[in-house]
Amino acid sequence: MPASELPRHVSIIMDGNGRWAECRGKPRIYGHIRGASRVRELIRETHRLGIHALTLYAFSTENWSRPADEVGALMRLLLKWLGRERREMMRNNIRFRALGSVERLPADVLAVVRETEEMSRGNTGLQFSLALSYGGREEILRAARRLARRAARGELDPAAIDQKVFSRELYSAEIGDPDLLIRTSGEQRVSNFMLWQLAYTELHFVESFWPDFTAEHFRKALRSYASRERRFGLVKPKAKEATA
Ligand code: IPE
Ligand code: IPE
Ligand code: MG
Repeated sequence: MPASELPRHVSIIMDGNGRWAECRGKPRIYGHIRGASRVRELIRETHRLGIHALTLYAFSTENWSRPADEVGALMRLLLKWLGRERREMMRNNIRFRALGSVERLPADVLAVVRETEEMSRGNTGLQFSLALSYGGREEILRAARRLARRAARGELDPAAIDQKVFSRELYSAEIGDPDLLIRTSGEQRVSNFMLWQLAYTELHFVESFWPDFTAEHFRKALRSYASRERRFGLVKPKAKEATA
């Protein structure tokens, strides 16, 4: 596939771990473990293709309200996963970011998140982000609050708040909007993910649960993306019309 037809920024709602495990008569956390093990291969493939950014929705602000044992197990898994994967990230020049209200994470998880962000800060390859304790509405409110504070201090003219200024206050300020969003597990909703950033994102839904997501599913999503015409509210480009 020509590089020009690849999305620059891919985001994924990794959904269906719990149901994957339940189908097999296993505890939900077993599905999360299998799900986490799919991520390494996905990062490798994304890196290999030369895609600029990959953003994965790993834990939402709403997910804090799940049973405490599931939340605790997810936090331990995250701690282990990041501790293990960061060597490979460093080897491959991958920059890591966490998007979300990470201050809510347990202290040891927050520490490994911050350390990984710090050590990969100078990496210029794949821009890899995990949305952790992330909620799109929370992110928009936070941006509004930050701008309101600056305006109240007299540092910012409210009339100067445009899309560019607003975007700079979002967790995604440095990575921008996804071109493609993939959601697994057959659900067709965004579940509070990147509400601002998804304005013109192409959506692709996969029936399989996240632990069954393969390189073939990924390639299919990329092919689907390449076949679409993004118009951003404009009319079909003239050149294409003439040759159609
Ligand atoms: C996605 O899988 C991972 C997280 C939300 C942490 P789920 O845990 O939502 O699995 P299902 O959707 O209940 O099957
Ligand atoms: C979205 O999945 C969050 C993540 C994948 C991290 P959920 O399973 O939490 O979303 P709903 O409940 O199906 O909308
Ligand atoms: Mg789910």
